[in-house]
Amino acid sequence: MKARSIADHVQILGAVDWDRRLFDAIIPLPDGTSYNSYLVTGSEKTALIDTVDPATWQVLEEQLAEVPTVDYIIIQHTEQDHSGSLPRVLERYPQAKVVTNERCLNMCVDHLHIDPAQAQIVGDGETLELGGKTLTFVLTPWVHWPETMCTWLAEDKILFSCDFFGSHLATSAVFADEARTYHPAARYYAEIMQPFAAQVAKNIDKVQQYPIAMIAPSHGPVWKQPAFIMDAYRRWSTAPPKNVVALPFVSMHGSTLMMVDHLTAALVERGVGVERFDLTTVDIGALAAGLIEAATIVLATPTLFAGPHPAAANAAFLANALKPKAKYATVIGSYGWGGKTPERLVEMMGNLKVELLDPVMVKGLPRDADFAALDVLATTIAERHSGLASRE
Ligand code: FEO
Repeated sequence: MKARSIADHVQILGAVDWDRRLFDAIIPLPDGTSYNSYLVTGSEKTALIDTVDPATWQVLEEQLAEVPTVDYIIIQHTEQDHSGSLPRVLERYPQAKVVTNERCLNMCVDHLHIDPAQAQIVGDGETLELGGKTLTFVLTPWVHWPETMCTWLAEDKILFSCDFFGSHLATSAVFADEARTYHPAARYYAEIMQPFAAQVAKNIDKVQQYPIAMIAPSHGPVWKQPAFIMDAYRRWSTAPPKNVVALPFVSMHGSTLMMVDHLTAALVERGVGVERFDLTTVDIGALAAGLIEAATIVLATPTLFAGPHPAAANAAFLANALKPKAKYATVIGSYGWGGKTPERLVEMMGNLKVELLDPVMVKGLPRDADFAALDVLATTIAERHSGLASRE
């Protein structure tokens, strides 16, 4: 696709990666993704904001064939899906200055071997005049890495936000259809922003000082109703969890699955929402998204080699890394002859600030007393969830 205009002398460039299905060798991309680059042309200078993943450099190269001069290449984030084509852009415009903050420059030196002599370091709140276009740099650490920054274009009220407010969504549309983009944006938040929820909230406060008319992220479509995605980010990062149990499970011979089915029904009878994730087939992006608002995590696993099934261990590792806002957690499952499955899983989830509810571990096929224990667990969860809002 050719460059397209989003405002007067402001264009979106970059590549739509329709067929990519895995990011960072872990994150599923059911909807593909895009790497957005933006060109801001002032009366005196021209700036390119972010580049593209090197695998799609040819797309940006063809777009830049129609751009005779770039004076500044603004790098908002070092991760290579945005900065990875910087060396190629510099080959094309050797006189251009790399404009970024000090931390980001140091990381670009490490990851891309950029020559610091080609850089112009900017601090928080500093501006760059292009001639009728004024760029202000806003340091927004931890959305997604510690060096990340946004760029504010005052004349057009556009916030270029890099990963912040982005979505892994390949689309031919420049501007977001809110209903279509909401879920990919939620997954994206869950996958990379969720561990930094406190910093996300601070950065929302920081960028809200600007009268934003448009948010132009470096993944997914441009938001013309910025309040829609900013309000969603505010909810995801700071609102109390909802009356929902996230129930990731794996079962080898059906006993743990019987427990999962019983607990699901018992919770629903008590007015608690349940989101189940079969860990043998799970899309971990969906699991990450399911953790955003769940008040309780119940991890269900059989015992294997005296500990949790590896699929359950993987889910525990993921939850521990994502640090969701859940307030309660426990483990249920069946074992053959012994083991320390709950203890091992609890050790693996040390980052979670949760009250641990009594686990329900069953020897072999569950009996009536075991189902009764699951009913007690369901009652306990329903009591703990009292007063929490339901998920719409
Ligand atoms: Fe889209 Fe953190 O890179």
